[in-house]
Amino acid sequence: MSIEKFIEGIPKAELHLHIEGTFEPELMFEIAKRNNKKIKYTTVDELKNAYSFNNLQEFLDIYYAGANVLIEEQDFYDLTWAYLTKVHEQNVEHVEIFFDPQTHTDRGISFDTVINGIYKALQDGEKKLGITNVLIMSFLRHLDESSAFETLQQALPFKEWIGGVGLDSSEVGNPPSKFERVFAKAREEDFTPVAHAGEEGPAEYIWEALDLLHVARIDHGNRCLDDEVLVEKLAALQMPLTLCPLSNLELKVITDLKNHPILKMMDKNLLVTVNSDDPAYFGGYMNENYWGIAQALDLSKKQITELVKNSFKASWLPDTEKEKKLLELDQYFQNH
Ligand code: ADE
Ligand code: ZN
Repeated sequence: MSIEKFIEGIPKAELHLHIEGTFEPELMFEIAKRNNKKIKYTTVDELKNAYSFNNLQEFLDIYYAGANVLIEEQDFYDLTWAYLTKVHEQNVEHVEIFFDPQTHTDRGISFDTVINGIYKALQDGEKKLGITNVLIMSFLRHLDESSAFETLQQALPFKEWIGGVGLDSSEVGNPPSKFERVFAKAREEDFTPVAHAGEEGPAEYIWEALDLLHVARIDHGNRCLDDEVLVEKLAALQMPLTLCPLSNLELKVITDLKNHPILKMMDKNLLVTVNSDDPAYFGGYMNENYWGIAQALDLSKKQITELVKNSFKASWLPDTEKEKKLLELDQYFQNH
């Protein structure tokens, strides 16, 4: 069996995915039309041509502009449902996805509208597609602490629906320390913390995410390689890193997938996972991310299986479910 087919068929988990980053141009135009919202571009092709980024901020500007057309609960449902059906075709069985409430509440959309739409689609995804899920509420780090506190307050009535809190958006200049108190309160309220760190920002931000926010996972974390002591610490903790190869390529974190550090990180015993981040903008969902690195780095089926197993290990599934999935993956490897 070819490595492409092997990747297609293997049951996968996704741990780093922004639901607003799954907004495909076709759906964006459809939702904009029914909401009477203007898009800066007149055709899908014109919009797609604008997807060329030199850094994280250039991407974020377009990503927030796209999210502007989401108004009704049905829009959030449709967005989430489209993602789930897409990854179902790719044999993704478990997803832990981010949503950015402030992107919407700052434009006057209520927190309830956003979370109701996403949650209902996730419920349907579990019932109809068998995809289990965790929802992670991410704070926008370019906004201030008080806005994050307000968002946390709005989330409290929905605690049962939200498994964790995250930290995303413009990294450089917005270190994890800016949100130390918000994360302390979130932990007190039983949300599991994660944070984007070391995507464009320095290794120091990864230290802060560990020491000040007490995160359970680091999103990206590429820059840990600048600091040997940090690498040793992450390996000793078996702290999961949710890597996003195509995102790294499109945001010029790396110049070529051949330079992606995932293999180097595996050699250093880091618990690395493969994820898609914002697939509608970066040219691919889970299979495309795996295909990309498998080809560029000449990965074996054993290495692919190891990476997929890492995702289930790093997930927040109950231990019994994890054990089952890990056995299933060993079986899949043996059989192919
Ligand atoms: N929001 C959506 N995608 C992001 C990324 N790759 N980094 C930071 N914030 C984001
Ligand atoms: Zn991300």
